[in-house]
Amino acid sequence: MSDKKLWAGRFAEPTDAFVEAFTASVEFDQRLAPYDIQGSIAHAGMLAKQGIISADERDSIVSGLLRILARIEAGEFPWSVALEDVHMNIESALTDDIGIAGKKLHTGRSRNDQVATDVRLWLRAELTDIRIKLRQLQHALLDLAEREAETILPGFTHLQTAQPITFGHHMMAWFEMLERDHDRLVDGAKRVNVMPLGAAALAGTSYPIDREFTAHELAFERPAENSLDAVSDRDFAIEFAAAASILMMHLSRMSEELILWSSAQFAFVTLSDSFCTGSSIMPQKKNPDVPELIRGKSGRVFGHLMALLTLMKSQPLAYNKDNQEDKEPLFDAVDNIKGSLKVFADMVPAISCNRDAMRAAALKGFATATDLADYLVRKGIAFRDAHEIVGKSVAHCVTKQCDLADLSLEELRDFSPQIEADVFDFLTLEGSVAARDHIGGTAPAQVRAAIARARARIS
Ligand code: ARG
Repeated sequence: MSDKKLWAGRFAEPTDAFVEAFTASVEFDQRLAPYDIQGSIAHAGMLAKQGIISADERDSIVSGLLRILARIEAGEFPWSVALEDVHMNIESALTDDIGIAGKKLHTGRSRNDQVATDVRLWLRAELTDIRIKLRQLQHALLDLAEREAETILPGFTHLQTAQPITFGHHMMAWFEMLERDHDRLVDGAKRVNVMPLGAAALAGTSYPIDREFTAHELAFERPAENSLDAVSDRDFAIEFAAAASILMMHLSRMSEELILWSSAQFAFVTLSDSFCTGSSIMPQKKNPDVPELIRGKSGRVFGHLMALLTLMKSQPLAYNKDNQEDKEPLFDAVDNIKGSLKVFADMVPAISCNRDAMRAAALKGFATATDLADYLVRKGIAFRDAHEIVGKSVAHCVTKQCDLADLSLEELRDFSPQIEADVFDFLTLEGSVAARDHIGGTAPAQVRAAIARARARIS
């Protein structure tokens, strides 16, 4: 294949060898090849329809591009750094193959609108895949929530025991976080699905193009309104990286809880051996490497968001070579969120809950103290006074090293004569969770209703 530069007409001296490698993007942007070819086929179709090239030339371009695609897919395409990027590698190979018609493909377009189109086509496809993986993880969480709808564990604030909750409720909190991530990705996809082609280098083109036709061929919602904006805009990518960062932040929080819960000190859950690794020196170890790695990868995706924001900051209109730097962060963000979602979705069904350990932990730390205060309020005591009474009872238990439910009725009545024998119904864990029986509450019946609503929402 000829390595002749497609833009070298005005150049008297060859490119410096280091500069050639420094400015090339083909090593990473070859990943866009199927989308570059898809865009070129639509462009050639439009050029023929408008009489800018002949039908024969279009046919020859299309079959030549499909042959190139087959060679790329077979791993037989000779990518050349001298040809700089995916676009010029493919165009040059096309001309080598079909001759003069290949040289007509670039009529009425520029690499500037071409690359912006390629990245959008690529991201649109990846978004579909990411959304499928996100849904798989959500389904796994719903199944686990259903399985453990009645399981009680301590709920925390400040990582101190606060009130008893159900494990199903906790899983549904994770589900809701991911549901907002899904919404964000769907919303951002609207702004991805706009077509830059036709903007050419920056100002549009003097050929009688039909952008509506090309947009329709490529299933874009519409052509971009403004040619300068079309070649320069990367906020669709920044927005995606922001949504991806928030998603990774959520996965890092979920990971952190699994890491804590699987420690010997908590022992709330056991992760399957297939998602853990051992230590080369400490034979007893079973480390939660998968959630730890996901937690770590969140930092990497946040970094990509910063990289994209920074590369766009202060760029004058329209296209600048800076934009070539958008690809590696985007590619890496996509690869890492897809991998993290897949492994998380595979790991969740294999989480086993140690119900006894969770229950024992919920019985410690006065998790039902609020229930005692609420009980006193129902007996006519003002909430602030009830809070004070329960606080004193808790202090007494701390000295005695016992739980509220371990106190006798007489002992409890020392703190408030309004306390009667029915108090013990409210001091149990089951009574506490069952009492929170409203939309969004932790009662098992509410968790089941929330699961049913969620299934209807995402099915
Ligand atoms: N490889 C370039 C990029 O990724 C393609 C566009 C180059 N355009 C240009 N005028 N140099 O942005």
